[in-house]
Amino acid sequence: MSSYQIREYRDADYADMRLIYSTGFREHAGTVYLQALQWAQALLCGVFLLLQVFFVSFLTCIVSIGGVLLVIRILVQYFFKQGIQLGLSEDLLDIRSSYMQTGCKSCFWVAEEKGSIVGTVGILPCVEEPGAWELKRISVKWEFRGRGVAKALCKAALEFVARHNVRRVVLFTSMVQTDAHKLYNTIGFQKEEEFVWPSLPGRLIEFIVFKYAHRNSTVISF
Ligand SMILES: CC(C)(COP(=O)(O)OP(=O)(O)OC[C@H]1O[C@@H](n2cnc3c(N)ncnc32)[C@H](O)[C@@H]1OP(=O)(O)O)[C@@H](O)C(=O)NCCC(=O)NCCS
Repeated sequence: MSSYQIREYRDADYADMRLIYSTGFREHAGTVYLQALQWAQALLCGVFLLLQVFFVSFLTCIVSIGGVLLVIRILVQYFFKQGIQLGLSEDLLDIRSSYMQTGCKSCFWVAEEKGSIVGTVGILPCVEEPGAWELKRISVKWEFRGRGVAKALCKAALEFVARHNVRRVVLFTSMVQTDAHKLYNTIGFQKEEEFVWPSLPGRLIEFIVFKYAHRNSTVISF
């Protein structure tokens, strides 16, 4: 029997909810750094050759390449920080007004175990696709993963939309969130579109965003 329970968000969950979102988001920075390095291979070779042409010592070449690697690392960390701040200053700034207004077809849930919040999920009308609802902010604390917490959270959200006659549920994820892709397939979502994240860093490293939609668009069920 599971020892966690899924329940609607309460104001006292605020700090934990924000921490779970931030840590879940940040953990993908390493994978994005590796992706950026693949893109930077040509740049690194170019720097190396240029320095060789100017008869710079081998040690200086190595130090310069180390410098380029460090700059890429700092840039990736910077963009992740920006991404986290964006989420925290958008819907996650005020869960009540973003998700829990009376009469609105939106809601936010948490998973609680022994008095602590271990996972989150929300659902609300999709800005990018009017008429559809979007599953957002799915994140589970590292040490509670693999026990069906995310699945139970998504079940609560999908049962909620089924009760409110919502016909279409979508979500956005990225190429690095591979555990989430498995979860989405398991609970009946299917990849519908993929596109490069529309931004300069996104284009530079070809960072792909996926749009998933629930397979059963006439009656959402789980
Ligand atoms: C994605 C995430 C929410 C999954 O949470 P979780 O509680 O471990 O997931 P569950 O235990 O409910 O697993 C549900 C299903 O997902 C799949 N799955 C999840 N993690 C998996 C993993 N590491 N390896 C293989 N399958 C996995 C399985 O199919 C599983 O179904 P099954 O148990 O019937 O086989 C969690 O890894 C997470 O918080 N990641 C960081 C934040 C993130 O990337 N969020 C997604 C934003 S788009």
